Amino acid sequence: MRFPASFLDELKARLPVSEVVRKRVKLTKAGREWKGLSPFNAERTPSFFVNDHKMAWFDHSAGKNGNIFDFVMETEGLSFPEAVTRLAEQAGLPLPQASAESDAREKRRAGLYEVLELATGYFTAQLAGRCGAKARDYLAARGLGSALQADFRLGYAGAEKYALRDYLAAKGVSAEAMIETGLLVHGDEIAVPYDRFRDRVIFPIADRAGRVIAFGGRALSADVQPKYLNSPETPLFHKGAVLYNHHRARKAAHEMGGVTAVEGYVDAISLSAAGFPNVVAPLGTALTAEQCALLWKMAEEPVLCFDGDKPGRKAAYRAIDLALPLIGVGRSLRFALLPEGQDPDDLARNGGHAAVAEVLAAALPLVDLIWQRETEAQILATPESRAGLERRLADLCAAIRDEALRRHYQSEFRNRLGELFGAPRPGRDPRRQHRFSAAPGRGRDAEPQTYVSQPLRVGASLARSPLLSTKTPGIAPREAFILLILLNHPALLDAHGEAFAELELGNSEARRLRQSLLDLWAARRLGADDMRGEIERGGLGPVLRRLEAMTAHSCVWTVAAEAADADAEEALKQALALHRKMRALNRELVLAEAALAGDASEMNLARLKSIQEQLSALAGMEAVVEGFGAASGRQSGVL
Ligand code: UTP
Ligand code: MN
Repeated sequence: MRFPASFLDELKARLPVSEVVRKRVKLTKAGREWKGLSPFNAERTPSFFVNDHKMAWFDHSAGKNGNIFDFVMETEGLSFPEAVTRLAEQAGLPLPQASAESDAREKRRAGLYEVLELATGYFTAQLAGRCGAKARDYLAARGLGSALQADFRLGYAGAEKYALRDYLAAKGVSAEAMIETGLLVHGDEIAVPYDRFRDRVIFPIADRAGRVIAFGGRALSADVQPKYLNSPETPLFHKGAVLYNHHRARKAAHEMGGVTAVEGYVDAISLSAAGFPNVVAPLGTALTAEQCALLWKMAEEPVLCFDGDKPGRKAAYRAIDLALPLIGVGRSLRFALLPEGQDPDDLARNGGHAAVAEVLAAALPLVDLIWQRETEAQILATPESRAGLERRLADLCAAIRDEALRRHYQSEFRNRLGELFGAPRPGRDPRRQHRFSAAPGRGRDAEPQTYVSQPLRVGASLARSPLLSTKTPGIAPREAFILLILLNHPALLDAHGEAFAELELGNSEARRLRQSLLDLWAARRLGADDMRGEIERGGLGPVLRRLEAMTAHSCVWTVAAEAADADAEEALKQALALHRKMRALNRELVLAEAALAGDASEMNLARLKSIQEQLSALAGMEAVVEGFGAASGRQSGVL
């Protein structure tokens, strides 16, 4: 029997070559390809390669290559129809009924592509023509000049009611075909079907092969509703299974090693113009599982870069629930958060390549966005609310079908909850413990994991908040304290160097001093006096003296700094723990403030208050334990 081309395409799309091949050949990752031992020759070094992107395999030892069908035919000695049948079974696709009817349907589909291509030509000509002046101005004003208009085949549909219909009719297109492609509005109450797109800028939507299958039409002015009008579902267009710009992004994603999903057509075009052609957009609906699968064919961790507003955040949060059951090793998502009120189009036009690159690079892993969502709108002041958070996180983990990944999410959340709720418990994270004990130069069995903490990552917009600013004018008291202890007791760097290196310091001079300390210790294990001398020579003498001036009036600091190593270590451990905890709480504070700004509910207010209380309780404790408060009077100066 003859299989329709669309069916074979569907099979190829559903079954990555690696998946088919893996049933027979053990594959290992080789860059963006897979490699393994030839199934055709006995060999010791792999000469068999699979490239999922190219939908092909290559056997250099046998000089053969092909697609999934060829592979099954070659390795199992099956005929083509047998191979197709076998693979359809593997993909869970029912075989198409062979009949004159299905042949006719295939023919008609092919005809529909032609109709849409004709319409695209018509729209682009309209945009270029006399009646397209207004639309051209509109696009130019949005930064979409003629080159981009041509690249993305943008068009314009004039205001007349039957213009496209008449144009297509003159080319011999039937009214049914126009209706079937969604170009005409029809219905029982509509005596004469008329053009769907009128007085709109047209964005052609292509399938992954680049064939136009639908259109999005944008109104030229804000008072026309809806802002975007899309083609309805048609035999060629299922909007949940399509990504705008997919055909162009596919190649770019492969070359650039990643893909970004934005919300709007214009966002996609702008990002592409700013040097990120590996960008796609869902079509005005929430991301679907099918679209996720398409994204994962392009990259292991697609970045969702949604608008910096409430709907954008909601869309990102919704994507969490969609993705959790689908994620696995090599299959996750990241989230690039935009500053409030901006969308990717604004960002690309105002900040260009650099701004986009920065936001994409700061994209949060899925785990962080889950944490943000779950802790954001919560008052965590009561045991009940904490148990509630724990339960929700457990439920979310349970949605992860991949077993190994689920375990790691569970332990990650356990750690974060431990940090959020109370005193860190020693040794509760085996990974971390391992990392510490593997640290070079660590001489003895201190328990540095008692100040374990998993720094929360913050989004780009939050990172810009003054509360998290890294440009604080001076060195904060606690940072000064930590630096001084280590200056006076460099040997403590053996046990605490790694934690020290990872500490977030709010001041660039403090960071430079830290770097010299670490470098000098690593290179030469200097004693305290030589260390000072070297740091002076390195030009950081003034910083050092400022630190000492800060501490001159605090007996606690001086004592700790000049104490025996063991006492100094105790003080250092406490200071490190407090520093991390304050940092974490301050981040919670920023999130809570943002939540309150977005939604001035009682709940958000209560949450803010609860964090403030925890902070001041901690600051009070610090004052008591360390005498910081008495000495400096600025406990909140940690940030
Ligand atoms: P937005 O309203 O965020 O689009 O909707 P945008 O790209 O920022 O719009 P511009 O910049 O004002 O032109 C995001 C996407 O949602 C779909 C469209 O696909 C749009 O690109 N949408 C939006 C609709 O389908 N219908 C609408 O009425 C609005
Ligand atoms: Mn938008």
